[in-house]
Amino acid sequence: MTRFLDAGNSSAIKEAANVIRKGGIVAFPTETVYGLGANAFDPTAVARIYEAKERPSFDPLIVHVLEKSDTKPLVTKMPKIAAKLISAFWPGPLTVVVPKSDKVPDIVTAGLPTVALRSPSHPVARALLSASECPIAAPSANRFGRLSPTTAQAVKEQLDGRVDVILDGGATPVGVESTIVLCTGRKPALLRAGGVPVEDIEKVVGKLAPAPKTALPQAPGGLPRHYAPRKPLVLVDSIDDVPEQKRKGAGALLFRSRKTSGFSMVEALSPDGDLVKAAANLFSALARLEAADITAIYAEKVPEHDLGLAIMDRLRRASSDI
Ligand code: TXA
Ligand code: MG
Repeated sequence: MTRFLDAGNSSAIKEAANVIRKGGIVAFPTETVYGLGANAFDPTAVARIYEAKERPSFDPLIVHVLEKSDTKPLVTKMPKIAAKLISAFWPGPLTVVVPKSDKVPDIVTAGLPTVALRSPSHPVARALLSASECPIAAPSANRFGRLSPTTAQAVKEQLDGRVDVILDGGATPVGVESTIVLCTGRKPALLRAGGVPVEDIEKVVGKLAPAPKTALPQAPGGLPRHYAPRKPLVLVDSIDDVPEQKRKGAGALLFRSRKTSGFSMVEALSPDGDLVKAAANLFSALARLEAADITAIYAEKVPEHDLGLAIMDRLRRASSDI
């Protein structure tokens, strides 16, 4: 049985934290997307996350902490570059991958010698971390390979009956997952574009290297087809390129609102072509298109800078056109 708790309710955080402490699993909002969390020190609880998501065990989880000081027991030594990034971007949508300590169970890191760490800024996530008094291992709260949820309702559609608690804290403001930076080599490397624009990160630590081939042993976030709606998605430079006869029965995903004709359904990521708003709307717009009675989705490319990098990464994986 899954319990739904309104995070605005004063007892909800306490109840959810009790579930975490007792080895249960809780879906909760972060500023990026909803996460599905368990006590990071409890391997059995963490195993339940993989089971609920039907996630393969080779895909490591992100460990969420309240403060930088909470990372101490989790790492052997904090690399300088990671410390710099943490000072600049925590709390917020940035994950650093650093060498792990023996205290972190192997199931959390899928056997890797490194651990992914992030301190969320969302007040509900922070209240939950504080009341649970432990680091929380949490991937996104979706079934494996499906769209990441940005509302409690979207979590419910995928995980009802599979998790102990869904903590409803409204729509998540950023809308795409955290940026992941590998900090184990001499140069930091970008493992996933996300909520902190790469341009901002490079202002702090210089140019990011591309992901080394060995860094992600088939981690699904790096699989060509991932974050995918259950409908064929075709990426196009402009919606105007879609021939008239293909529009009937199809959906369109626009970058900015404008007039179109012939499509059975139209979603716009932002009214005015704003990348921040577009990121915030991405997964919910895709979920509405997925649920609609259409046969295919035509998605318009967005400019590939700032949050546009993360949006295009997700759209490419959704279309498997990479
Ligand atoms: O914004 C986010 O990052 C959200 C919220 C809930 O915090 N979490 C999230 O987790 O998106 P998710 O489902 O993407 O899973 C974590 C991803 C893995 O797929 C993998 O790509 C990467 O983080 N990861 C975790 N540990 C890693 C490690 N040790 N080395 C390399 N990549 C790692
Ligand atoms: Mg995910």
